[in-house]
Order: sequence, then C-alpha cells, then structure tokens
Amino acid sequence: MSATQRERTDTVVMPTYRRYPVTFARGKGFYLYDETGRPYLDFVAGVAVTALGHAHPAVTEAVARQAGRLVHTSNLYYTEPMADLAGRLTGLLGWPDGRVFFANSGAEANECALKLVRKALPGRYETIAAWGSFHGRTMQTLAATGQPAKWEAFRPLPPGFLHVPYDDAAAIGAVVSAATAAVLLEPVQGEGGVVVPGEGYLPEVRSICDARGVALVLDEVQTGLGRTGEWFGFQAYGDRAVPDVISLAKALGNGFPIGACVARGRYATAFGPGDHATTVGGGPVVCAAALAVLDAIEGDGLVERARKVGDYLRQGLAGLVESHALPVAVRGKGLLLALQLGSDSARDVAMAALSEGLLVNDVAPSVLRFCPPLTIGEAECDEALGILAKVLRGIPS
Ligand SMILES: Cc1ncc(COP(=O)(O)O)c(C=O)c1O
Repeated sequence: MSATQRERTDTVVMPTYRRYPVTFARGKGFYLYDETGRPYLDFVAGVAVTALGHAHPAVTEAVARQAGRLVHTSNLYYTEPMADLAGRLTGLLGWPDGRVFFANSGAEANECALKLVRKALPGRYETIAAWGSFHGRTMQTLAATGQPAKWEAFRPLPPGFLHVPYDDAAAIGAVVSAATAAVLLEPVQGEGGVVVPGEGYLPEVRSICDARGVALVLDEVQTGLGRTGEWFGFQAYGDRAVPDVISLAKALGNGFPIGACVARGRYATAFGPGDHATTVGGGPVVCAAALAVLDAIEGDGLVERARKVGDYLRQGLAGLVESHALPVAVRGKGLLLALQLGSDSARDVAMAALSEGLLVNDVAPSVLRFCPPLTIGEAECDEALGILAKVLRGIPS
C-alpha cells in the first residue's frame, strides 16, 4: 500500500485514529513486517493485546480447528468452549462462585459491569471513577472515563458518574453516598499514562467499599492476564484488594475480539434472562482462542516472565533517563512501563523509532508507553533500548 493508497484509505475510513504512516502485511512473534518485508520490533503489541506475540501457533491452530467445526450458534444454545473458558477464568481468579458474561471488547465488558452493579444494588445508580482513567468509548464507559477532553463533543453524557483524584482513597470515602453502586478503577492507569498508585490505595478502597456496601469493580482490560507481573493486577495486594467484579479483554484473545466481565458473590447472580446480551459474544472461535492464550500464559510461565523481563526493561529505561536529557522518569509494573519525557516530544520519539524499526506508543504527549509481548526476552529489550538511545540523541530536549 503506497502513501497515496494510505491517503485514499483516509477518505473512506472514519478518521478516529491518527495512524502512523506504515502498512503492516504480516506478523510473527515479536515482529511486524511491512509490505517490503522490513521487520519492526513490536513494543506496542496492538496496545497490550498480542501478549503472546503475533501469529502464535497454538492460537492459530485452536482458531483454525474451531472455525472448521463450529463458528456461531448465538447465546440461545450451549457451546463447550464458552463453558470451558468461564471455568478457567473463575478458576484463575479463585472465585468458585464466580460467573462470567462474555462480551466483544473492553468497553463492552465494562458496560456489562456498570449495568450489573445497578441490578445487584437496587436504588443505587452512581459510579465513582478516577480522573485520568480510561474505560472505553461507548456512552456509559466514556462517561466513566475521567478525561473531560474526550467528553466535549458528546455532551450531555449519561448521568451517574462522579470523578475523584486517582490514588486518593479518602476522596472516594468523601463522595460515597446512598446512591453509590460502584467504585470503578484500573489497578494501574494505562491510557492515562501508566500511573501506578501507592501500595495502600486499593486495599483502602476495598475497605471503604466493604464498609459502605458498594461494589469494587476493577477494570483489568489492560493490566489483566500477566501484564503487570501478576495474573491480575489486584493480586499484587494479596487478598486485600479483591474486587467484586472484574473486566477483561485485550490479551484474552491475543487479537481476537473478546471481553469478559467476571463477578462473584451477590454480583455473580444479579443478572437474569434478558438483562444483558450480545449476539456473537463468547462465540466458540474466540473462546477457543482465549483458552489457547491462557494455556500458553500458564504453560510458558509468562506471568513470572513479565515480572523478570519487566525488571530488566525497567532498568534499561532507567539507564536512558540517566544518560539522556529528554526522559526524566520511568514508571509502571511488569511489562506495562512508561518513560516520562521532559517535553511533549513523545510523538516525535515514536516516529523516529518507527523509522529505525521499533514500535512504541505515545500514550500522552510527554509519555512513551512500552507494553511488548510477555514472551520477549533480554535480547529484544536490548534491541529496543539501543534504538531508543539512538533516537533520543536526535530529539531536542
Ligand atoms: C483499562 C481499559 N479499559 C477499557 C478499554 C477499552 O477496551 P476496548 O478498546 O477493547 O473497548 C481500554 C482500552 O484501551 C483500557 O485500557
């Protein structure tokens, strides 16, 4: 696809993304390949989606096998992959009473959670979320998202959302009322610039929710399934921050569209027939893909690997802070890391890295995010760090 063909694409596809000027033709492992066959080391992973890398053979095989057997029945009937996947997820969470609703994306998983808590707690309709959060682009999840710049064109937003500063449990305690159904938080804010809260935050929020009879909903769409060096981000706090409801998507399908809302206790059984639905959600093919993903994460020790390789990458990024003027800090957990830059140059750095064969994401004007596949090793980190060091030398600070 030439530059002219890309321009033509922009005349037929809605311009909701500022795309990078490259067309990818295929992917394998840590690399995407453009049409000339040039490899690009992928430290974006489709925004924390292709946790196993591209074209993972086990996922490809599972999808091909299932597609040849049964693709779609609707949710009017039982299918085995859905039953197996729901059991796997509740098992991983250690929630024997847990139940799953399968959706097609992260926004839909959150949309389900927002409806679920209202149904479970009649008369309570408000959700408290955090400034800087990101929960999706449907109207409800946009209203939950604590980024007013994304709201402007779409007012009036659905009512029932309050925002408080992230990493401030007292601010939540101060606004909980008899109308509050849920507190909705990310264990690490991803789209908000990879913001890690203090150690006491989530446990304190859990206590507030318990004391006030409010659901704790954790959006693990980005942090879930090994990304932060735990199966789920909340597990970093042992049993002190276990949510009532969790949303998952992204890595669950390694690129196949699937989301999941998992609930326990009174929330698990709140929905009845007709309360929520999706025609293709939880279909056999995406569930087969997700089962293969979970097998690989478990079988290949990728949670532990994310922690170990994440430490290595983090140290390398810290080295860039020491030796270059532009980056000023490193933050994040596991393989969800960010470089804070001293100026709004993240796009320039990402563009320069692209031309050197490295994909990184400018998650905010002054923040570069790194969320590579969980399968990467030290060699890939060294390759990325080498390109970044070169690129950073050429960008004015
Ligand atoms: C924490 C979080 N929640 C929800 C979403 C929305 O997911 P999706 O784009 O699959 O709707 C995202 C996407 O980036 C996310 O990072």
